[in-house]
Amino acid sequence: MGGDRLAHGFTAVDGQPRPAAWVEVLDRLAAEPFYAAGKERLLELLQARPGGLFLEVGAGTGDAVRALRERYGAEALAVDSSLTMAAEARARGVRRVAAADGHRLPFRAGRFDGVWADRVLQHVAEPARVLDEMLRVVRPGGRIVLADPDYDTQVLDIEDQDLARRVLRFRADTLLRNGSLAHRHAGLLAERGLTGVTVEARTLVVRDPAAADNVMGLRTWAHAAATHGVLTPSEADRFTTDFDTAVRTGRFTYAVTFFLTAAST
Ligand SMILES: C[S@@+](CC[C@H](N)C(=O)[O-])C[C@H]1O[C@@H](n2cnc3c(N)ncnc32)[C@H](O)[C@@H]1O
Repeated sequence: MGGDRLAHGFTAVDGQPRPAAWVEVLDRLAAEPFYAAGKERLLELLQARPGGLFLEVGAGTGDAVRALRERYGAEALAVDSSLTMAAEARARGVRRVAAADGHRLPFRAGRFDGVWADRVLQHVAEPARVLDEMLRVVRPGGRIVLADPDYDTQVLDIEDQDLARRVLRFRADTLLRNGSLAHRHAGLLAERGLTGVTVEARTLVVRDPAAADNVMGLRTWAHAAATHGVLTPSEADRFTTDFDTAVRTGRFTYAVTFFLTAAST
């Protein structure tokens, strides 16, 4: 699982020229109905009860941790490897925040009633190790919930479908460390002996290219691919031309499926 892939912004927020830009990305996503609905469902799958204690790994700005407390009356801790994110979560009123790496969670075994990671495993160096750490800190009978997009499920309508596939493949294989792991989350949980594993798929369909471009940089992926020798510069230019034509003529459609996987320990 690709530890040697390109560093995406979320693999090392604090090392970015402007770490706060990644806080803004999370806020833009949170405002999208698709992401907000996915988050609601994720919180339901945790089956939180008042008095329970939960942990979010890679909590970002901590908004879901606060939502869990407000909606379900459960306590939750936020962990994020980024100091910028941890500080932001604290500033937004999350009481219990730790700047820590999901590969080494600073908690005793069995401490939590449930643990979740939302759009985090796609970015970590060793997802299986992070998952093992999450399982270690959940009590027997507790809940685990994982959510990620799976970039193996991408489709894009531009004129040249072969070129589109090559660019989408580059996104899945190189621009993210574990871009096509999400359809395997259930298997990872099953092979670790978890019970009642469920998988829900939610497809993001983007028809507004401005939204796609602002949020995911789709229009620029071909030039990134050319920089890495995956496309020639002229192929990258052709992708951009095709992309713009698709937008102008109203054919532009991009979709990617997110998997929401839950189980009990
Ligand atoms: C796409 S954001 C998602 C944030 C949040 N879960 C949400 O749903 O808004 C990914 C987060 O994972 C954090 N992260 C990346 N690698 C991590 C690691 N190894 N351990 C803990 N957090 C990590 C990033 O700093 C970032 O805040």
